[in-house]
Amino acid sequence: HPAHEFCAAGGDASGCGGGGGGDGTRILIKGGTVVNAHRAEEADVYIEDGVVVAVRPNIPVGDDNVRVIDATGKYVMPGGIDPHTHLEMEFMGTVTIDDFFSGHAAALAGGTTMHIDFVIPVNGNLTAGLESYRHKATKAAMDYGFHMAITKWNDEIAREMELMVKEHGINSFKFFMAYKGSLMVTDDLLLQGLQKCKSLGALAMVHAENGDAVAEGQQRMIDLGITGPEGHALSRPPVLEGEATARAIRLAKFINTPLYVVHVMSVDAMEEIAKAKREGQRVIGEPVVSGLVLDDSWLWDPDFTIASKYVMSPPIREAGHGKALQAALSSGILQLVGTDHCTFNSTQKAFGSDDFRKIPNGVNGLEERMHIIWDSMVETGKISVTDYVRVTSTECAKIFNIFPRKGAILEGSDADIIIINPKRSFVMGAHTHHSRSDTNVYEGRKGKGMVEITISRGRVVWEDGVLNIAPGLGRYIRMPPFGYVFDGIEKSDAAYRASLRAPVHRGKAAA
Ligand code: URP
Ligand code: ZN
Ligand code: ZN
Ligand code: ZN
Repeated sequence: HPAHEFCAAGGDASGCGGGGGGDGTRILIKGGTVVNAHRAEEADVYIEDGVVVAVRPNIPVGDDNVRVIDATGKYVMPGGIDPHTHLEMEFMGTVTIDDFFSGHAAALAGGTTMHIDFVIPVNGNLTAGLESYRHKATKAAMDYGFHMAITKWNDEIAREMELMVKEHGINSFKFFMAYKGSLMVTDDLLLQGLQKCKSLGALAMVHAENGDAVAEGQQRMIDLGITGPEGHALSRPPVLEGEATARAIRLAKFINTPLYVVHVMSVDAMEEIAKAKREGQRVIGEPVVSGLVLDDSWLWDPDFTIASKYVMSPPIREAGHGKALQAALSSGILQLVGTDHCTFNSTQKAFGSDDFRKIPNGVNGLEERMHIIWDSMVETGKISVTDYVRVTSTECAKIFNIFPRKGAILEGSDADIIIINPKRSFVMGAHTHHSRSDTNVYEGRKGKGMVEITISRGRVVWEDGVLNIAPGLGRYIRMPPFGYVFDGIEKSDAAYRASLRAPVHRGKAAA
């Protein structure tokens, strides 16, 4: 099948990720506006066996075995790809409530057809971590890929990183600069990690907050008697996110390797990324939906169940940060939108009812992302429909090196497709969502634009408000190293080495 070149030899137990279900399903989507990141056009889309076979106007309806979907007046787009989720993640003494099935149900109902989840090593061991996540993902209902966190450092872990890239289809590693005492890494480890990532052509990702200062800030709040959810935001202000973002950017510059900053939540962090980009550095900034459209006032709600659901790290900021992040997204300073979907129900959140430090960190968003970005950014004219596709799907596929199999509606692409009706409206909330959580940070939110149909791997899985999915239908998508962000790095390395022996340096030595 056309996508096969993406599957490396010696496949995982989780299977090769090529093509659709192979069940012969044939679909013709007629009369819609097909939107790719590079252009929008009036065209029909013909799908067979999980793969896009043709995209052009006036494709004739062939035989009776082809299902015809009328998309007149609607947008036909690549399914969303969420670069940042935590399904069934063990964290802060508990486990996130959405697993690879309920999370996928939520995603598909909201127009997202692929996500990349973070494998957390087991006692620092990457192989054990991968094994655990492979097992969790056997119930997958849609396609998924993995990033991997690095939480410890030794020669064995460095060797395992190589194995992850060369054998297991992982091309990105995340370093937590926060969560002191659990996931946090030191600058020493970060430097080693950046170096290793560079040599493997893997993208280094950072959770950028100064974890030592956060611990100080938390103690300061407790000493002041501030123990409620608002203490979470007060203890880790934007300056700590700005500092860590700047530090990671400078260390990546020193190593000369690309850097991906996850969940950019503040103007402070965004400005550091903007500055680095102006200077030509390869830095990718990922805002998340909660940071774009919510503000921290909820943390002061007198009802703990309400306030605690907004606790995530870095914190949701004061009003104003979200608007600035939206502007940065529309102007290209920030490049793609994630969710950091990391759901805990109200019982789990209540672990911290007398101490904000014990509230499990994380918010929902996997089901809401596509609708909220459409409503808040396309409906308001902040971004075009083509840019919508870019920031919700195509850019992620390109960065993680799976484009154009994913992130596009082109001949040979996987048939992960959504149909949005711009005239219909949505209302969000825990009573109607597909997440297992009993709360939703977007409770009662209304807006325009509705994902009416989701097609995953060539099958209609969401239609008329009904899901038709099964565990095990999703496939692991291998992501090869040396994606476009690495292109040319070796040339700037060579230029740097040459500059060390240039006359200006020799002159300095002589003086
Ligand atoms: O609060 C958050 N963000 N929870 C998930 C873990 C992380 O830092 O991404
Ligand atoms: Zn294959
Ligand atoms: Zn994080
Ligand atoms: Zn996260």
